[in-house]
Amino acid sequence: MREQESVGSIINKVLLRKTQLKDNSTTLIMDILYAFFSSLFVVVVSCLVRFAFFKSKSVVNVKVLPPGGRGWPLIGETIEFVTSGWTGHPEKFVTDRMTKFSRHVFRTSLMLEDAAVFCGPEGNKFLFSNEKSLVRYWLPATVSKILPSTDHGVEKMKMVRCHFKPEVLRQYVAVMDMVAQKHFETEWEGNDQILTHKLTKIFTFQVACKIFFSINEPELVNNLSVPFERLAPGLFSIPINLPGTPLRRAINAGKFIRKELTAMAKQRKIDLADGKASPTQDILSLMLCDDYGKFMAETDVADLITGLIIGGYDSTSSTCTFIVNYLAELPEIYEEVYKEQMNIAKSKPSTELLNWEDVSKMKYSWNVACEVLRLVPPTQGTFREAISDFTYNGYSIPKGWKLYWSTYSTHKNPDFFHEPEKFDPSRFNNNAPAPYTYVPFGGGYHLCPGKEFARIEILVFMHHLVRKFKLKKVIPNEQIVFNLIQPKLAKGLPIHLCPHKP
Ligand SMILES: *[C@@H]1O[C@H](CO)[C@@H](O)[C@H](O)[C@H]1NC(C)=O
Repeated sequence: MREQESVGSIINKVLLRKTQLKDNSTTLIMDILYAFFSSLFVVVVSCLVRFAFFKSKSVVNVKVLPPGGRGWPLIGETIEFVTSGWTGHPEKFVTDRMTKFSRHVFRTSLMLEDAAVFCGPEGNKFLFSNEKSLVRYWLPATVSKILPSTDHGVEKMKMVRCHFKPEVLRQYVAVMDMVAQKHFETEWEGNDQILTHKLTKIFTFQVACKIFFSINEPELVNNLSVPFERLAPGLFSIPINLPGTPLRRAINAGKFIRKELTAMAKQRKIDLADGKASPTQDILSLMLCDDYGKFMAETDVADLITGLIIGGYDSTSSTCTFIVNYLAELPEIYEEVYKEQMNIAKSKPSTELLNWEDVSKMKYSWNVACEVLRLVPPTQGTFREAISDFTYNGYSIPKGWKLYWSTYSTHKNPDFFHEPEKFDPSRFNNNAPAPYTYVPFGGGYHLCPGKEFARIEILVFMHHLVRKFKLKKVIPNEQIVFNLIQPKLAKGLPIHLCPHKP
């Protein structure tokens, strides 16, 4: 409309000038040409404007995908994604693209899949709270090759959560304390120097064997740990199933574990029926006696327990290793943890095992662990899959896209954590971090079921560690290597142990 009015007004103006200057024919011709060209100009411009207008209108109907790059054909940005941590800044893959494209959501292509990365607390919240309506949990195909029955059925998850509730777990505090005492006696004491990561792995596996299957015979524990070691490297490896590849080794290890644990579950059923085993002695018994678990096949129970152990094994041992790292590096923080743990130790007879109340008093120690989980989260992020087309932040997300969230979009963001690179346990003192900014355990329906289990295990570990030793790093600036599965210290964190003077 407006364009037509202006065409009319220009012609009027020209006609006006024509009457004023009718004696000058040259001017008249010039004016007619002027009128012609200016109306032509206006028509062309108006057409362009209208075209642009229509185009922008149709954009609303045509899907706008999130901004971002798709990287190389087929492999996409997988290499950048996997190697982003090698420079010591694993957050870069996410934060660089948040700056370049959008701080809410950007597009990429990972592991042969179209993907979008959801960022910030809003992105975390969206993925965590739309489970089953818009998104579902997704794991790379390699995972189901290694552990065929690790689906996250509602009933199965309910059962798992039920046996990992704090009320249930409190009975394990004393058991973990017993395992830790023996572990520190046999693996740490009497050594001038230890390799931390090796020992934290042994510790977490010993705890798992005891609490899941009541196994504490060292040789048996050790024999079982060998195939478990082979699982994790295959889970997020290149999906090539050939002899010698991490995937093939993990598949074989998975088969071996399934066979062993299935046999264990079968034997346990017999022992339970004969009254030779207690229905509450460990998680295996609890699951086999559970209203839902009773009807599960033994192989499914085996796979479920295997999944739970893998979920906790590498992540808890990594966290314990980094706790040792920061305690060795920061004497003032070590002192605070030491004071807290000594107060708890002094408050009870030396022969009495730790209990739930003791663990609840370890507030400062837990703040230290929380800060470790913020800076070097053992799980960087996980995937969901879009189960229908939907719109997020004005962008279309097509069904089937893989959606990733990452701890790094918030954990190292100064908007949510003041001086994010600084190790400061006091940030967890009174006010909890803003919702969906601190997510080392994920959130929503898939919030890590082992969160409380890990908390007790880590605190019991810290209790024994600081009461027995002062810590000194053998390699002062040992590099942190971030790979996709877990952050690691380059040399496994060798540490000088200095026992406290009596
Ligand atoms: C552990 O494995 C070794 C070698 O495979 C085997 O000889 C031994 O009997 C196993 N020990 C136990 C307690 O199962």
